[in-house]
Amino acid sequence: MALTSVLVLGPTGGFGQFIVPELIRRKSSFTRIGAYIDESRPLSPEKSDMLESYAKQGVELVKASPKEASPFKGGFDVVIAALGNYALKKQPELISTSISAGVKHWYPSEFGADLTVGDNWNERYYRDKVITREHLVAKAAENPGFGYTYFLNGRFTEWAPIPHFGINPKTHSAHIVGRPEMEQSLISVNDAAKYLVCTLLDPIAGPERTYRFVGENYSWTTIFSTLEKVQGVRWAVTYKSVDEARSNQLRAIASGDVDAELAASHQVIQGTGRTLLPKPYDNNKFPEENPQGLEETLRALFEDKKKFPLLGF
Ligand SMILES: NC(=O)c1ccc[n+]([C@@H]2O[C@H](COP(=O)([O-])OP(=O)(O)OC[C@H]3O[C@@H](n4cnc5c(N)ncnc54)[C@H](OP(=O)(O)O)[C@@H]3O)[C@@H](O)[C@H]2O)c1
Repeated sequence: MALTSVLVLGPTGGFGQFIVPELIRRKSSFTRIGAYIDESRPLSPEKSDMLESYAKQGVELVKASPKEASPFKGGFDVVIAALGNYALKKQPELISTSISAGVKHWYPSEFGADLTVGDNWNERYYRDKVITREHLVAKAAENPGFGYTYFLNGRFTEWAPIPHFGINPKTHSAHIVGRPEMEQSLISVNDAAKYLVCTLLDPIAGPERTYRFVGENYSWTTIFSTLEKVQGVRWAVTYKSVDEARSNQLRAIASGDVDAELAASHQVIQGTGRTLLPKPYDNNKFPEENPQGLEETLRALFEDKKKFPLLGF
């Protein structure tokens, strides 16, 4: 069975704004495409325009408040949760509500590193993703016929060079945890959306499945030399120790700065090589997709900075 009736949570977010257009591009393969609109959330003009454009292209705008089951009713096979870090803790309740409304499959907000690598499972950055995984396992055991997909893509290339992670494309400087030769798994966000839609159409054969997709694995040396080439300027790059990032994390915890705590936790993960996705990868299952290279993705990124506000321009 393929998953052809799809509801997207966070349809206008960083990743959601790529998933929905890709579903629209392949809409002849889908019976229903829904965009979940949490009415308790602010509606900016950009978000409103995006939703209007989706609706014009046949996407159902499903208005909802978080505890209601009704938005999940009416035959959605699968929910893709593309929720931001601060919304992840809402997932377990949304999963339970959706199952009670008949949803058969859930793609949790993962879309990153493999949580089973190293000590990722115990890292603060992944806390809510781990809680969601545990909830999915429990719910699948209670509800035969319900299943879930872990979609892993390492890092979105467009989110790698951002100040939040110690890399500033505006000042061409970086102070990061790691070593120059350390590799990162990168993929453009649009390629991740393409592979995601491919997996929806890949028949289900059990309650749990995991896909791993990369564009390529790149060392920091290659990432910074490519940034230099694309921006035409020298970068100043320094490396700090994992211990320094851990100390920053402890300071952030003491001062109650959750954003800084998450950033430091991510730096530790990145600096210990845990954002590198282990093989095997599933790219070969979908040979029709050809992910963009690093340079091409970075060039496109700097041409449309508005789409990526986290860059800090
Ligand atoms: N691997 C990587 O490099 C990478 C990079 C970025 C993201 N990701 C992953 O991709 C997924 C989506 O991330 P994103 O960057 O697209 O997220 P985002 O843009 O920050 O947020 C996505 C959507 O979540 C909803 N949301 C955000 N904060 C909320 C809150 N406090 N309460 C309720 N809803 C809230 C919003 O939807 P509405 O406005 O529709 O309510 C928002 O549009 C996550 O799993 C994230 O870890 C991975």
